[in-house]
Amino acid sequence: MESSGLKNLIQGIPKAELHLHIEGSFEPELMFEIAKRNNITLDYDSIESLKKAYKFNNLQEFLDIYYTGAQVLIHEQDFFDLTWAYLTKVHSQNVVHVEVFFDPQTHTDRGIAFDVVIKGIYRALEKAKNELNISFKLIMSYLRHLSEEAAFKTLESSLPYKHWIDGVGLDSSEMGNPPSKFVNVFEASAKHGYKLVAHAGEEGPAAYIWEALDLLKVVRIDHGNRCLDDEALVQRLLEKNIPLTLCPLSNVELKVIQKMEEHPVAKMLDKGILATLHSDDPAYFGGYMNENYYETAKALNLSKNQLMQLALNAFEASWLSSEDKEKQISEVKNYFNSWN
Ligand code: ADE
Ligand code: ZN
Repeated sequence: MESSGLKNLIQGIPKAELHLHIEGSFEPELMFEIAKRNNITLDYDSIESLKKAYKFNNLQEFLDIYYTGAQVLIHEQDFFDLTWAYLTKVHSQNVVHVEVFFDPQTHTDRGIAFDVVIKGIYRALEKAKNELNISFKLIMSYLRHLSEEAAFKTLESSLPYKHWIDGVGLDSSEMGNPPSKFVNVFEASAKHGYKLVAHAGEEGPAAYIWEALDLLKVVRIDHGNRCLDDEALVQRLLEKNIPLTLCPLSNVELKVIQKMEEHPVAKMLDKGILATLHSDDPAYFGGYMNENYYETAKALNLSKNQLMQLALNAFEASWLSSEDKEKQISEVKNYFNSWN
């Protein structure tokens, strides 16, 4: 398919985004605006010079800049503006359902109260539900470079808001911080009714994916690229129909893969794995949902059927009710049936 046809096809697909760090959607323009109103001086003298710093050799180099950027977020309105900007952007790309990560510790460790963070984010999500017809779930992520004790404190802080939070995740520096470090806090989180997911097998080995499944008991793996190294693991993912939330542009930008042509998503689909596509940190990695679909489809020469499978998988993997899943799944099928 020629590129404008492919772009049109992708634009119209009703999409679900299941792997998105709200702090990673912080566009430089908004970062400068919020820094200014909060009287904070950024280390960069212009938007252009900030953007030039977005060249990463690995996950840690990205995280260092990502945590620095988040430091300008102080007030509830800042968290609202950040979230609202993301939601209006993805609305323009026909994203109809989002499951959004936020990293409370990135903020509470700087003295920003948990309730300031969550109230701003939640207000924007509610507004998007009412005004843009975007459904949502909210996932609180523990930072794995910090201790399990610190994660327990975060769990405690979240409890007054647990009716707003659907699940917990595990993110930040993967190597040297295996899922096994967080067994107790994941068990406690589940007891409070939170669903469980974890980043695993992004930079880390297939063994971390096993740990996330067997020790943390997650229902979804974020990334999971490295599963193809281990056939027994692939069988396990298939048996339990465990979704993988893949982020192709992120993988290229963080050198998890060397080029898009090497992305494992097509092989995963061939094996029948419930693979899905998302943007991770779109402000840092050069694209939102449409760009992730487009660059992947182009590099791997994905067929219309494969694109439909990816879109269907995302709704299947979502935490929507079965009724809402069915509705969205038939929307996707109708869309592809009408496309010629
Ligand atoms: N936090 C934000 N983006 C992340 C990623 N890609 N991996 C781990 N932690 C993250
Ligand atoms: Zn991520």
